[in-house]
Amino acid sequence: MKYDYKLEYFEKSAEYVRSKIDYEPKIALILGSALGGLADDIEDPIEIPYGDIPNFLVSTVKSHAGKLILGELCGKKVVCMSGRFHYYEGYDFEQLVAPIRLFKLLGVETVILTNAAGGINSGYRPGDLMIINDHINLMGASPMRGPNDDRIGPRFFDMCNAYDKDLRELAKSLAGSCELRVQEGVYAYQVGPHFETPAEIRFLRTAGADACGMSTITEVLTAAHCGMRTLAISLITNMAAGMEVGGINGAEVDVVAKRSSLEFRKYLKEIIKHIDVK
Ligand code: HPA
Repeated sequence: MKYDYKLEYFEKSAEYVRSKIDYEPKIALILGSALGGLADDIEDPIEIPYGDIPNFLVSTVKSHAGKLILGELCGKKVVCMSGRFHYYEGYDFEQLVAPIRLFKLLGVETVILTNAAGGINSGYRPGDLMIINDHINLMGASPMRGPNDDRIGPRFFDMCNAYDKDLRELAKSLAGSCELRVQEGVYAYQVGPHFETPAEIRFLRTAGADACGMSTITEVLTAAHCGMRTLAISLITNMAAGMEVGGINGAEVDVVAKRSSLEFRKYLKEIIKHIDVK
């Protein structure tokens, strides 16, 4: 068995992070590429490079800074990942549990995830936001594969409310304050780093997907396993493969992400202001 992580393995990471702070963060933020600006709004930030945290992973994506930022945002204690981990970087699926497990041990109750995604629903357009209400995991695999530590979560676990209904309702109720159009739909995950083929997109649309991307679901699965509530929002940066003339251009994805990021950041802060923490 390649991975047999027990609670103590993640506790080592948590112990180190706890030694740098004197409070419990209640909300964790994992922000997608070019959407990381929100981290700049964190007050009294304490930055911890991933490389300093025992038993943690190291980021390989150039545009990601690769550090945890802890502090206060909209009156709430938060921990924010500047730089997230993706399967396409070469990690095994089972390794990608590390951030969420660390957050759970720090006392986090609510996880907020953002990502860039391709729009599959023909009613969407680039620049829209999509509150994720469910996902389709084309990889089929689970980060919880392998021996289960029952102290972390149960062997078999429910995914029906993995995208927490109350948090989705909250986000929808605040959509009027956001200049971007806010949609709600199903996110299809495939591992990347290639974009989907036009045939895959036709298949996904028939299957009920509204958007597609290469991140987020490992974090959602891990959070559901250990009983944390999750809100995930995609920024639609492009229409998916085959929907428009010409292919998908990674640089264009970045341009839309940057253009919408200020408004997205404002909306996220509005949501965070309204989240109840214990
Ligand atoms: N597909 C997958 N991931 C993405 C896309 C896409 O079209 N756009 C941004 N991230």
